[in-house]
Amino acid sequence: MKLFPQLLSLALLTGTLTMNSCSSKKEKEASEEKPGIEKTAYGKLPDGQTADLFTLRNAAGMTAQITNYGGIIVSLTAPDKNGKFEDVTLGQDSLSSYVKNNPYFGALIGRYGNRIAKGKFTLDGKTYNLFINNFGNHLHGGKVGFDKVLWTATPVDGDEPALKLKYTSKDGEEGYPGNLTVEVTYTLQKDNALKIDYQATTDKPTVVNLTNHTYFNLTGGAKRDILDHVVSLNADRLIPVDKTLIPTGKLQDVANTPFDFTNPTVVGKRINDSTDTQIKYGGGYDHGWVLNGPADSLKLAATVYEPTSGRLMEVRTTEPAIQFYTGNFLDGTVTGREGFPYKKRYALCLETEHYPDSPNHPAFPTTTLRPGETYKSTTIYQFSTKKE
Ligand code: GLA
Repeated sequence: MKLFPQLLSLALLTGTLTMNSCSSKKEKEASEEKPGIEKTAYGKLPDGQTADLFTLRNAAGMTAQITNYGGIIVSLTAPDKNGKFEDVTLGQDSLSSYVKNNPYFGALIGRYGNRIAKGKFTLDGKTYNLFINNFGNHLHGGKVGFDKVLWTATPVDGDEPALKLKYTSKDGEEGYPGNLTVEVTYTLQKDNALKIDYQATTDKPTVVNLTNHTYFNLTGGAKRDILDHVVSLNADRLIPVDKTLIPTGKLQDVANTPFDFTNPTVVGKRINDSTDTQIKYGGGYDHGWVLNGPADSLKLAATVYEPTSGRLMEVRTTEPAIQFYTGNFLDGTVTGREGFPYKKRYALCLETEHYPDSPNHPAFPTTTLRPGETYKSTTIYQFSTKKE
C-alpha cells in the first residue's frame, strides 16, 4: 500500500516523461519541417580547419545541403509527380571523399569556369601563366580552385533561407593577378528554386568567370543514366571546340546538327553521332552554347524533364552562355552516398558562364574585371513537375 503512491508518482513521472518526449518529438518534427537554415559540423580538412554543413529548407519541404568547403551542394531535393522529395544531384558520402577526389560535384568554380588555352592570357600587355591541369590547358581555376578552398559562411534564416559564402583569392593565386574578393549567396526560394548570386571585386585588372558545377540526375537518387532526360536549350549557336576542348573562335549554328536543342529533345538521341566532329571531340556533349536573349538580364537558358518522375528543372541566368556536359568523364571510380558507382553519363551539368577561353578571344564577351567594377551574375535552378 505504501508503495502505491510511489508507484503512482513513478507512473505519473513516466507518463509525464513520455508526454514530454512526445511533445519534444513533435516539436523536433515541426522544427525539421519549418523553413530555415541549420548548421552542423561536417568534418576536418587535412590542414585542421573545420568545414560545416548547412541545411536549408523551405516550407514546401525542399532541402539544400551545402558545405562551406568548395561551396559544394552536397544534396538538393525536389518533389516528383507524387510529391516525393529525392536528391536530384550527384554527391559523396563525406567531406573526406570530397577532399580525396571530387570531379567538381556540386562545387563553386573559379576564378575561371572552363578552360583557358595553354593556361596563358595577356591583359594590358602583360602575359600571365596559369596552372595547367587539363591536357595542356587550364581548367576550372587550376590545382586548387574555388571548389577546394574553405569559404567563410554566414547563414541567413527565414522563409527563404540563404547561405552567404565569402572567399578572398590572393594576388597570384593559381597565376591570376589581383586580390579577388568573391561572395556567393545560395538562396532556397519558396517556389522550389535555388538561386545563386555571385559577386566579385578586385584590386588589379584580372579575369573572372564563376559558375557552379552541380551534376543533375532528375530520376532522384541517380537511379540510372541521363540519356532519357529531355533537354531544351535556349540557344541557336554553339561554341565549337578543338580536340582539347578549346574554342576555335568561331560560332556555329545548331540547326541540323546534334547540338540543336531549341526544341525539347531526348539527350541520348544524337549523343553518339560519330559522324559529327564536335560530338567526337566532346565524347558526347561537353560544349558551350550561346544563349539567345540579352546578356546581363535573367532569361530562360535550359529546361530538363525526366519522364518517369515527372520532374522538370528550369535554368535561368544572366550569363551569356551555358556549358552542357553529359558526364562523359564519369567512369564509376567515384561512388555516391548510396555506395554505388557513378558511371558514364549518370548526370548532366548545366554550367552558366561566359564563353570558355574568353581572355584569348577579344571578340567574345569580356571576362575582364577592373578595380572599381563589380562582377555580378545570377543563376536560378527551379524545380516543378509536369505530366507528359
Ligand atoms: C566541365 C568540362 C568538362 C569536364 C568537367 C569536369 O564540364 O567542360 O570537360 O572537365 O567539367 O569533369
